[in-house]
Amino acid sequence: MQKSYTTLIPELHKFTYEIMESSEDLITIIDKHGIIIAMNPALSKLLNIKHEQLLGQPLVEAVYGGRKFDFQGNYLSPIIETLETGREFKGKEMGIKSPLMNGSFVCLTTTGILRDSRGRLAAVYCYDKDLTLCRQLERTNEKLEELIHSQHLQTVLAFSEAIGARDNYTRGHSERVAEYAQMITRAMGLDDLDQLVYVAALVHDVGKIGIPEHILNKQGRLTDEEYQKIKEHPVTGANILKQIGTFNHLVPIVRAHHERYDGRGYPDGLAKEEIPLISRIIGVADAFEAMTSDRSYRKGFTIEQAVEELKCCSGSQFDPQVVKHFLRLIAD
Ligand SMILES: [Fe+2]
Repeated sequence: MQKSYTTLIPELHKFTYEIMESSEDLITIIDKHGIIIAMNPALSKLLNIKHEQLLGQPLVEAVYGGRKFDFQGNYLSPIIETLETGREFKGKEMGIKSPLMNGSFVCLTTTGILRDSRGRLAAVYCYDKDLTLCRQLERTNEKLEELIHSQHLQTVLAFSEAIGARDNYTRGHSERVAEYAQMITRAMGLDDLDQLVYVAALVHDVGKIGIPEHILNKQGRLTDEEYQKIKEHPVTGANILKQIGTFNHLVPIVRAHHERYDGRGYPDGLAKEEIPLISRIIGVADAFEAMTSDRSYRKGFTIEQAVEELKCCSGSQFDPQVVKHFLRLIAD
């Protein structure tokens, strides 16, 4: 098929030549002895050498300083590997290094064998698509995402601060809950979740921003109506975080932090494993912190009293596994 196209369109060689000349990707052709018979200006530019100096030269000597293999015994040049082993590459990501280049070069490499009319190997071509720019863009993107993420985190922390300023009890509470929750997570061997747990715990009460101050700081018994208002805060918090793209993964966690293991919590009455694990961890950390901290109208529990309470509610309010790990942590 290729032959008939060439016959039908004599200008095809010119077309191919023009593509090679104008392409920013790297194109090399070597003959069956490894001699460079064609290469495009993009490659000679990368190698800092005039392409007339390379044409007719053995590729291994001219480009790789006479070395065919790296220290691990891998081919330095994919085109030579294809020539010697017959193994062709199709868009394989590779790092290419040559003594002629400053630094290394990341590319998508395609190689192929060109055969003569009798089917014998005549030449090998190599086409390298430069990924350096893509990699730089990816790195810039990652940095940008990190920046956006940290700015979002700062926004949510500012929310938490704002709640702390309205609610005497919440001040410092979220930070302590975050520390306890992170300790439990590590004790459970879930170290890869500890950052997520910390951030989720920091913002778990962000929905309290929607609760009127006189209810939030009320010292006496809450009316049913006031209690209902308090119970809205997990949903309010989830709705706030929903507005911030990078915190979408925290939405179900924050929404479920007042669910109970026995299914009698709020807002959705989830039970056992239906409740996200991180919410179950925060639930224990939150309760322990609340029990052991002093309020203006009562003194906090001692650690022993809080431990008794956790034991008592293990399996009903709290996930027994989480309690077990936390109690071991406290005992240590
Ligand atoms: Fe809460």
